[in-house]
Amino acid sequence: MGNDIKNIDDYKSAYKKSIENPESFWADQAADFQWHTLWRKVLEPDLRQGHNKWFVDGKLNITINCLDRHLEERGHQIAIFWEGNDIRGDHRQLTYAELHQEVCRCANGLKAKGIKKGDRICFYMPMVPELAISILACARIGAVHSVVFAGFSAVSLADRIKDSSCKMVICSDFNDRGLKHIPIKEIVDEAIALDCDSVESVIVYINTGGIVPWTEERDMWWHDFIGEQSITCDAEIMDSEDPLFILYTSGSTGKPKGVVHTCGGYMVYTAYTFKNVFQYEPGDVYWCTADIGWITGHSYIIYGPLLNGAITLMFDGTPTYPDPSRFWKICEKFTVNVFYTAPTAIRALMAAGDTYVEGHDLSTIKVLGSVGEPINEEAWHWYNEKIGKGKAPIVDTWWQTETGGIMISPLPGITDTKPCFASYPLPGIQPVLVDVAGHEIEGNNVEGLLCIKHPWPSIIRTTYGDHARCVKTYFRPFPGMYFTGDQARRDEEGRYRVIGRVDDVINVSGHRIGTAEVENAIDEHANVVESAVVGCPHPIKGQGIFAYVIVRQAVPDEVVFVEEINQKLVEMIGPIAKADRIMIVSGLPKTRSGKIMRRILRKVAESDYANLGDISTLLNPEIVDEIIRKSQETH
Ligand code: WT7
Repeated sequence: MGNDIKNIDDYKSAYKKSIENPESFWADQAADFQWHTLWRKVLEPDLRQGHNKWFVDGKLNITINCLDRHLEERGHQIAIFWEGNDIRGDHRQLTYAELHQEVCRCANGLKAKGIKKGDRICFYMPMVPELAISILACARIGAVHSVVFAGFSAVSLADRIKDSSCKMVICSDFNDRGLKHIPIKEIVDEAIALDCDSVESVIVYINTGGIVPWTEERDMWWHDFIGEQSITCDAEIMDSEDPLFILYTSGSTGKPKGVVHTCGGYMVYTAYTFKNVFQYEPGDVYWCTADIGWITGHSYIIYGPLLNGAITLMFDGTPTYPDPSRFWKICEKFTVNVFYTAPTAIRALMAAGDTYVEGHDLSTIKVLGSVGEPINEEAWHWYNEKIGKGKAPIVDTWWQTETGGIMISPLPGITDTKPCFASYPLPGIQPVLVDVAGHEIEGNNVEGLLCIKHPWPSIIRTTYGDHARCVKTYFRPFPGMYFTGDQARRDEEGRYRVIGRVDDVINVSGHRIGTAEVENAIDEHANVVESAVVGCPHPIKGQGIFAYVIVRQAVPDEVVFVEEINQKLVEMIGPIAKADRIMIVSGLPKTRSGKIMRRILRKVAESDYANLGDISTLLNPEIVDEIIRKSQETH
């Protein structure tokens, strides 16, 4: 049976075993689950071609392990607590038995609509229990879920629906976020109108009520969809390597790619990391504030917690509505024991002032988590002192959509914590730092490109419909290793600190945005000839979006122009892609081969004018002076 890590010796021996004998180590962890058929082989690795298979020929259904397996022991225990946007609204709760029934009803509804194993279903939903229910229902019948964050635009939604030719969309009527009222169904209709021919049906959950556009043959209300269905449903028997879900994420080039995770390895890894990283104990109330539209929500609101029979809290609002004490009010109301959030939220709440924290009973919190971007020292200390009262260790968890689960993290109360360091690799994870030539940088107190040497169970399996892209992005840069796209340093004692992306990806409030996508959207503006986008430091978001734009005709009113560009970004990507600064320039620094020298643009965006480096190879060095001058004038 799999062993939980309870002290430093456990960690050391688990780590040692996981490296010396990974197959036996992961077989032990996998033995905790209910398998229909055991695997024939634990691992068939192929880091060169990106074909890594785990628990080969094993058969299972992840929802049996999330739900059925717990019914006897904790059928009446809460599985999901839910808190809505409106502070005066009722909260909801579902026990494991209730969740099991609802998932079965929904699964039968899906079958009645002709959904079969392998079909793709797109979700565009607020953070309501029905989202968790329908995701699990999808997994129960072997369909593949593709959740799209409900802040993305109709154009982005359409791109994702088309890329994986989804047969069904599950959405709500509207969504309230703070004071915003978002017409979800209308956006879905707009997206489908953009040539989403694969969509046969749309299921609409009434969240707020109100009138929505309707297409008679295609659309169906959630209550009609599940209404008559039975509360039992046999689970589809899945192969370990059958896809469980697709989740789109941005890269340095082109459109977002659909990261594919499969059933067996993802199950074993998210369950193992959840219980150990958060040191979850039965009965603890666990709250991760992420949206299920991101990987954090998949792995650590739904799957990891439910696989462990945990109590997981879902919150459908924002940290600052009705005021910045909302998180702490919820922690007090539900006596939260483990709290997991993003640095951007911590910085925003810190900036709002300590008065919003004071007077709230946070004494139940024993572990704090951080994820999504590097946490700065000031935010780390504030979190530690004001929220954890110096008694709740902070787990700064480093991982990615592609890794499926947490890779590097302190273990609370077991390994030490150091501000801004994700610290030590979890068992099974072999991080290495390499230089640009791919040579491993050994020893401590060094910095380099972060790669992972050996496959782990929830490693990305493919990018949907384009395996070549997956190989090119993750496995070709440094053959024999997985490349993360991050730069990291290793301190004197071997702890890792992840510094940031080395590719053209910006991390805005913990959300990955590809500069190419932003540039494409800006270039849609009729008066734009060319644009170049880089990240710039931002006090709350971590990184902001800085766009340099060349225009066709002189812009009479810059304020209007900036608004128009942002309108394009909202329309093409979503509000998260709005630019923080837009600078009109007469040219972009280019090399003789016509490549934009982004290094210079990044330095200017950081106001670091003294360290531009060598600009002598530029085709148009004079442009650098213009850009610096403009930057100084407007900053
Ligand atoms: C990128 C992955 C992991 C779920 C949420 C984000 C950055 C993530 C940390 C951390 C420093 C971090 C990396 C990574 N990142 N966690 N603890 N410290 N950087 O998933 O959208 O796939 O983004 O987020 O740059 O590559 P994602």
